[in-house]
Amino acid sequence: MDYFEYRDGRLCAEDVPVADIVAAHGTPAYIYSRKTLERHWHAFDDAIGEHPHLICYAVKANSNLGVLSVLAKLGSGFDIVSGGELARVIEAGGDASKVVFSGVGKTPDEIAYALDQGIMCFNVESEPELHRINEVAAQKGCQAPVSLRINPDVDAKTHPYISTGLKANKFGIARELAVATYELAASLPNLNVIGMDCHIGSQLTDLAPFVDALDRLLVLIDELADKGIDIKHLDLGGGLGVPYDSETPPHPREYAAALAERMTGRESLKLILEPGRAIAANAGILVTKVEFIKEGEEKHFAIVDAAMNDLLRPSLYSAWQNIIRVEQATQAPRRLYDVVGPVCETGDFLGRDRELAVQANDLLAVRSAGAYGFTMASNYNSRCRPPELLVDEAQVFVVREREKRKDLWKGEYKVP
Ligand code: LLP
Repeated sequence: MDYFEYRDGRLCAEDVPVADIVAAHGTPAYIYSRKTLERHWHAFDDAIGEHPHLICYAVKANSNLGVLSVLAKLGSGFDIVSGGELARVIEAGGDASKVVFSGVGKTPDEIAYALDQGIMCFNVESEPELHRINEVAAQKGCQAPVSLRINPDVDAKTHPYISTGLKANKFGIARELAVATYELAASLPNLNVIGMDCHIGSQLTDLAPFVDALDRLLVLIDELADKGIDIKHLDLGGGLGVPYDSETPPHPREYAAALAERMTGRESLKLILEPGRAIAANAGILVTKVEFIKEGEEKHFAIVDAAMNDLLRPSLYSAWQNIIRVEQATQAPRRLYDVVGPVCETGDFLGRDRELAVQANDLLAVRSAGAYGFTMASNYNSRCRPPELLVDEAQVFVVREREKRKDLWKGEYKVP
């Protein structure tokens, strides 16, 4: 559930009509709801209950400082994939000792920075990475806390671009090599082996692959215990899906409860989760204005002022995100539209074949845009990126300003 609802025919973000926000800040614009972020985070945290755990929000989903600061105030942990994300977490007031560092290509510089900041754990994805972290920690005269990302080889049955737990993916360490790689890690003097992790994919709408992965990893944890390697936490990654359309993913409550149940009798094994989308997606919308209605020979087009550079998911993954009117009342006829942006690519669309009653100057909201929306935005076609606004009940905070034209060439130079 989220806090974007119609009140008297007007779409509101918490207590503020979206049209009023637009009147003050223009379009296109991302609008986030603080209460929704908090609600989603608590849904995970509360459902696990008494079992020792940490919710590490996946920063890549939405890394705006305002969003991170809301979660930091709840005591959230964070899952990061770059030095830049770690810097954001710290700037937003997050606690580095609750940070896990994922990703297949950590540089020596990023590893050194993370060690200096005292992160909780590196989620290591390969043998060469183990050696690299060991070396950097040796140079610093410390021990780096590590967990190995094991590829449990379960099929997450999601879009191939966001499925990560199969053998054919670049991620993680193969199950067959897991014990040997743990033994290697345990033998390296500047590593402290503390955990195990996996991440099987994103936008999963079924519990079974998660539970399957958990069961497989628990077997491995017991196998390692027999060899004297003590795993203190199990990180199951992110991946719980959200309802964009007619999907019916399990509620975070059901998901977390199913996992916690499997952990009974293992009270000393801390459970870590890395949800991104399930916390942020439905906590945000992208508001856009219709510039023109264009009658094509075969289709009607609603040409809007947001484009694939602002929200890439529809173009990149053919992702479906709901598009709704900001003000319900209209005299416009209902027809099927392709909602397209001004970028010079046929693939620049926000939605295709959408039944809408719409005319020029109307405002539309693309729903579920709080995750992998702004973070995947670019300046393609030299378009200024939109502002990000965070609503807290009746207050609207500008958590990122709209880019200005002169920002477009910041750090660029002409040649003489
Ligand atoms: N942990 C790791 C190691 C990950 O790679 C990811 C996402 C997450 C956690 C968070 O997953 P979530 O709970 O958000 O599903 N751009 C794509 C999604 C890419 C996800 C990449 N990894 C999209 O817009 O659908």
